Amino acid sequence: MTKNDLLEFLKKNQHQYISGEQLAAEFGITRAGIWKHIKKLQEDGVKIDGVTNKGYKLSQSLLLAEEILDDISPAAIKSFSVGGKIACEVFESIDSTNTYAKINHQQGLSLICASEQTAGRGRRGNSFYSPKNTGVYFSIAFQPTTSQTNTYTVAAAVAACKVLSKVCNNETKIKWVNDIFLKNRKVCGILTEGTFDFETSTLSNVIVGIGINLETSDFPEEIKNKAGALGVSCNHNKLIADITNEFFQTLSQPQEEIIKEYSSLSLVLGKHVEFIYENHQRIAIAKSFNLEGNLICQSGEKEYVLKAGEISVLGDFY
Ligand code: BTN
Repeated sequence: MTKNDLLEFLKKNQHQYISGEQLAAEFGITRAGIWKHIKKLQEDGVKIDGVTNKGYKLSQSLLLAEEILDDISPAAIKSFSVGGKIACEVFESIDSTNTYAKINHQQGLSLICASEQTAGRGRRGNSFYSPKNTGVYFSIAFQPTTSQTNTYTVAAAVAACKVLSKVCNNETKIKWVNDIFLKNRKVCGILTEGTFDFETSTLSNVIVGIGINLETSDFPEEIKNKAGALGVSCNHNKLIADITNEFFQTLSQPQEEIIKEYSSLSLVLGKHVEFIYENHQRIAIAKSFNLEGNLICQSGEKEYVLKAGEISVLGDFY
């Protein structure tokens, strides 16, 4: 046996202590042998609790495809999968789950999840800081049912926001378009990408990538004033499944309902916001979202319809 066999076994039983005796019997080696492997895993950075008279247990949540799939609701994914099928791949480390999904998951419904990304991508060509084990990074790849692409972005923001509020027992909010904030810190980013089929002039595949900072700290200089973490540890597998279920449930609602829910979770409505419009910097009040998810802003008589881009939220008084 190798230390990785032991790790796989601990992962499969990650919510309970397993005694040294039990592990020794499972692998046909001595308890001292088990202890040596545990030490090696700990030296590799795997967090394992060892308690006298109880045994060993992982003290960090590790990704396990079977556990994610167990919590996926067949009813939620019904309209987006063929015969309820969903694939799931997990990685300890990967460059980017979105990039991997784009190359390897053009068909069917799939989840690609990682505990670390070495080249995590954000919107507008930015990178997404994705350090090991402190966050959850995953992509949902599926075939679209509507060409209304904004729907996916909006539904993903609604789903992530609702689930994250529950997880941290605190109110998280959506900053248009789809950043999730806890208080005044961004704790989750979403990157929606698609593949356009020129033969049929249709969107053939959608990838919704979600990155969540759970216990992330030591952010790089360029984001350290804006980025934050939820400050909770939780079961990463359940978190991925819950957001995925919520995402597909949200998508099954009429567009009006999705926008209504999105509006109720918005951080920007009623606030003064600053943005670039037709090459000029503007300040206006964020009024509402139209059915396409565009942000409608007003300044005096002038109305601005923002389709994409970045806005800054100013204080209520400026
Ligand atoms: C943003 O904040 O600009 C969007 C960040 C999106 C990050 C997620 S993490 C999983 C998926 N893989 C990526 O490379 N990016 C997305």
